[in-house]
Amino acid sequence: MEKQEPTKGTIQQADEDLLASLGYKQEFKRAFSGVETFGIAFSIIGLLPSIASVLFYSVPNGGPSAMVWGWAVASIFILFVGMSMAELASAAPTSGGLYFWTFSLASPKWRNLLAWIVGYANTIGSISAIASIDWGCAVQIMAAANIGSKDQSFVATDAQLFGVFACVIISHAIICCFGTAVLARLQSVYVGLNVLLCLAVIIALPAATPKEFRNTASYAFGNFTNTSGWPNGYAFILSFLAPLWTICSFDSSVHIAEEASNAAVAVPWAIVGAIGIAGILGWAINVALAFCMGTDLDAIMSSSQPMAAILFNAFGQKGTLAVWAIIVVCQYMMGSSMVLAASRQSFAFSRDGALPFSNWLYRMNKYTGTPVNTVWFTCILAIALGLLAFAGTSAINAVFSLSVTALYIAYSIPIIVRFTNSPTNSFKPGPFNLGRFSLPVAIIAVLWMLFMGIVFLFPATPGPEVPDMNYTIVVMGGVMFLSLVYYWFPKYGGIHWFKGPIPTIDDQVDGTTVDSLEKKGADVAVNNV
Ligand SMILES: *[C@@H]1O[C@H](CO)[C@@H](O)[C@H](O)[C@H]1NC(C)=O
Repeated sequence: MEKQEPTKGTIQQADEDLLASLGYKQEFKRAFSGVETFGIAFSIIGLLPSIASVLFYSVPNGGPSAMVWGWAVASIFILFVGMSMAELASAAPTSGGLYFWTFSLASPKWRNLLAWIVGYANTIGSISAIASIDWGCAVQIMAAANIGSKDQSFVATDAQLFGVFACVIISHAIICCFGTAVLARLQSVYVGLNVLLCLAVIIALPAATPKEFRNTASYAFGNFTNTSGWPNGYAFILSFLAPLWTICSFDSSVHIAEEASNAAVAVPWAIVGAIGIAGILGWAINVALAFCMGTDLDAIMSSSQPMAAILFNAFGQKGTLAVWAIIVVCQYMMGSSMVLAASRQSFAFSRDGALPFSNWLYRMNKYTGTPVNTVWFTCILAIALGLLAFAGTSAINAVFSLSVTALYIAYSIPIIVRFTNSPTNSFKPGPFNLGRFSLPVAIIAVLWMLFMGIVFLFPATPGPEVPDMNYTIVVMGGVMFLSLVYYWFPKYGGIHWFKGPIPTIDDQVDGTTVDSLEKKGADVAVNNV
């Protein structure tokens, strides 16, 4: 017997057959190679600019030990989450992702409600991810103004920061309405810039740092300095927010599953690969920073941006401005990718009617070919979250933990229902499969997400003089509560009409089909992320 070599044709056929078995017809071109699929996940992680944005979480909560060991511990656990998600993605590579898996794996009694909760958590998570990325970007822009000003005398006020933040988001909304094709082309430039930045910090920073700021190995790897006011153990755990926020939204590569070639293999490996590489490179960056930041952590924290302060000591004003400009560009690009991903997610969710004003949201603009309404919907809500800046630092910082907590709710539910409903549901392992390690890995992943979710419900800064209301739970709890009220609302609530994701092939759930024109419109948006 001659062995059949897998050709492009047979891979494509296998992709289409798998998709058909999930209830969807092939509508996208399978244009993404394995490496490009990885590129999407990796670019939304945006390693160096992200680390810059959340350094304010690791520096006061343990200093060098939190940066180096906090990162190492947390990224290992994040890898467990990624492996569990990768198994699901391998079994059912559809762009609906989390929301689709929850619906198809949960028991019929619960699946509508659980898919509803996952959809809402995912929506809040994506919107607060936009808000936190663009807030980080605004802080970085103002840090550049601070570095560039004479004697670093310029310090931005809250109102100025908010103004820049709002402008950044509005510009993202405009780009995502009109220029998505340009953004898609720029992805590879952007991945290149990101790698360049990592090398600059790992190689050039240690070379350029003057003696007085260089730290010994015992300081970089062993010193624990806690200036947050929390007990040491708790402070160390809080510092995990830095890696958690940085290595998040890795479900983005799932959303292009229907455009990826050999998706059942490419998507899971993109998730695991992006987490693994971000974990290792990010660790190296943190080690480099720990060696080059000097020992005066208070000075770093009271500067306009911690990472900028560290770079300034090594590169001086001009050098720092040059590196910083690239960081700002990368952070800006990451924000625009996030707006695209979020607008597409809420577009899909409103296609199934679940969001308020779904009829208005689920509309493809005929002129631009993009879901203009959901772009503005996500951006305006993100700007509203930015108003928390006026309630104080801990309030705006809560937007960062909000995005992680909300996404973890959306990540954990499909992983749980896969096992709790395991004998009866239709889960068939794909090519990426951990075998008998599946269950232990999933247990570790879910316990980790549960634990971190609980940690972030506590206020981020102790002390009576700080407004220590926890805004994570206020916003998160508030939106989830309202979404449940909407679900159970008499007569009009989702319970009466919400039927989960609507398949595009007949004979599934009530034989409902999607108007193919509308579906085409959705593809345009999806294609461009
Ligand atoms: C960490 O470094 C600081 C500054 O050099 C020092 O004051 C402190 O005692 C060190 N702490 C530990 C646990 O080594």
